[in-house]
Amino acid sequence: MSSTQGAQVLVASNRGPVSYVTGADGSLTARRGGGGLVSGLSAIGPDTDAVWVCAALSEDDREAVRRSGGRLDPADTGGQSVRMLDIAPQVHTEAYNGIANSVLWFVHHMLYQTPLEPVFDEDFRTQWASYEAYNQAFAEALAAEAAEGAAVLIQDYHLTLAPGMLRALRPDLRIGHFSHTPWAPVDYFRILPDDIAEKVLRGILGADRAAFLTRRWADAFEECARRVLGGTGNTRIGVHGLGADAEFLRERAHRPDVDERLAALREQIGGTDRRTVVRVDRTELSKNIVRGLLAYRHLLAARPEWRERVVHLAFAYPSRQDLAVYRDYTDEVARVAADINAEFGTPTWTPVVLHVKDDFSRSLAAYRLADVALVNPVRDGMNLVAKEVPVLAEQGCALVLSREAGAYEELGEDALVVNPYDVIATAEALHEALSLPEADRVARAGRLAAAATALPPKEWFLAQLGELRG
Ligand code: F6P
Repeated sequence: MSSTQGAQVLVASNRGPVSYVTGADGSLTARRGGGGLVSGLSAIGPDTDAVWVCAALSEDDREAVRRSGGRLDPADTGGQSVRMLDIAPQVHTEAYNGIANSVLWFVHHMLYQTPLEPVFDEDFRTQWASYEAYNQAFAEALAAEAAEGAAVLIQDYHLTLAPGMLRALRPDLRIGHFSHTPWAPVDYFRILPDDIAEKVLRGILGADRAAFLTRRWADAFEECARRVLGGTGNTRIGVHGLGADAEFLRERAHRPDVDERLAALREQIGGTDRRTVVRVDRTELSKNIVRGLLAYRHLLAARPEWRERVVHLAFAYPSRQDLAVYRDYTDEVARVAADINAEFGTPTWTPVVLHVKDDFSRSLAAYRLADVALVNPVRDGMNLVAKEVPVLAEQGCALVLSREAGAYEELGEDALVVNPYDVIATAEALHEALSLPEADRVARAGRLAAAATALPPKEWFLAQLGELRG
C-alpha cells in the first residue's frame, strides 16, 4: 500500500488530544486529554499539518467517531487534524488495560509484587493477541493516511509493535517511536516471556529511530536490545527531555477561573502565613502518593513546630479505575489522608487538603501557591509537574524530587533529592525545603524554571521530526 496523497507528518498514540462526554441533551463535548503525552503533543498545533491518529477510549468517543466518520471536527480539537479509530471494545480493553497498563506499565515502572504477580497464563496470551490486533489496526490506519516518504511518530508502550508492522506495510516511511515511560533494567524486563520480550523490542526496532525522555531510559533500552536480541540493528537511539510550556502555563494560570480556585484554596488553607506543600498526580501506583503522605505525617510527628504552620495540598486525580489495584490504591490514599487529619487536625487547621476531582484550573492555582512541590514517584518517565510548578509558584518554590523521576536528570542539582522509598528521608527533605532561606529558595526556583523550560513541547516535537527526516 502506498499513496502519493496523504499526510506528510503523522502522530499515533492511544490517547488523543480530546475525549468526549455526552451531555443530558445527547450533545457531545470534547475535553482535553490528560497526562504528559497529551501535554507534549498538543503543542504541535495545526500549523505542522500533522494528522494525529488515536483510539476511541469510551462509548462517548465511539459515538463521536460514528458521527464524524472518524475525522474529528477541528472545532473540537483546536484545529488539529485527528483521526480517531474505533477499535472493537474488547480488543481495546485487553490491549490497554490488560497488556499496556497491567503488564508493560508494571514492567517499566517495576511495580510487580512477588509472590503474586505476574502470572503469564492463558488469559495473558488472549490479551496479547488483542494487543497485536490493536497495534495492527494502528499500523493499517497509518499506512492508509501517510503520503509517500512521510514521517510517522508513534508514541509509547501501547504501540510497541506498530513500528515494525507499519514498516512491513510501508517501507517508504520514516518511522520514529517515542517512549514516555521509563525503560526497565534488563533483568526486570526479562520477567516478560522470552517471545514477548523479543516482539516488543523488535517492534520498536522496526522504527528508524527510537527516542526516550532521558539518557538513563535510552541506555536501559539499548542494554535490553543487546542482551535479548544482540543489538539495536540500524535503529538510531535518541533522547529528548520534554519540558514545560511556560508561555501556555503563564497565560492559562492567570485567567479568572484560576483566580477563583486560588481564593477558594486560600480559604481551605486558612491562616495567612501557612506554608503549602503541593502535589498533583494521577492516582497512580508509581507516583508513590501514600509514601508521600506518610512522609508528611512523619514531618508533623517528628517536627511539631510545623503543626498549624503548613498545609499539604494533595491532588490525586482518578486514573485507570477499570483496574482493581488502582481503585484500591485510590481508597488507600483517601484513608491515609483522613488518618493524618484525624491525628493532627485542629478546629482551625486541616493538615491535608485532599482533592480527587480532576480540575486543571485548581491544579494551576495550587502551583501558584506552592512553597514546596512534592514529586516522589518510585519511577517516572519524566514528571512534568516537577517542571511546571517552579514556572508558576509565585514565591519561588522548593522542589522535593525523587531521584527515580526522569526530571531528576535536569533538575537534580537545585532540587532536594530523595530516595522515594525512604519516608523518613523524605520527611527531612520536606523540612529542609520548608526551611530554606528565602534568597536560596528563590534562586533555586529561578534555575529550576529555566532548566524545566529548556525544551518546550513544540521544540521537543520538531527536534524529533528533524532527526527523523535528517
Ligand atoms: O507514558 C505515560 C503516559 O502515557 C502519560 O502520557 C500520562 O502520564 C499517562 O501515561 C496517561 O495514561 P492514560 O492514558 O492511561 O491515562
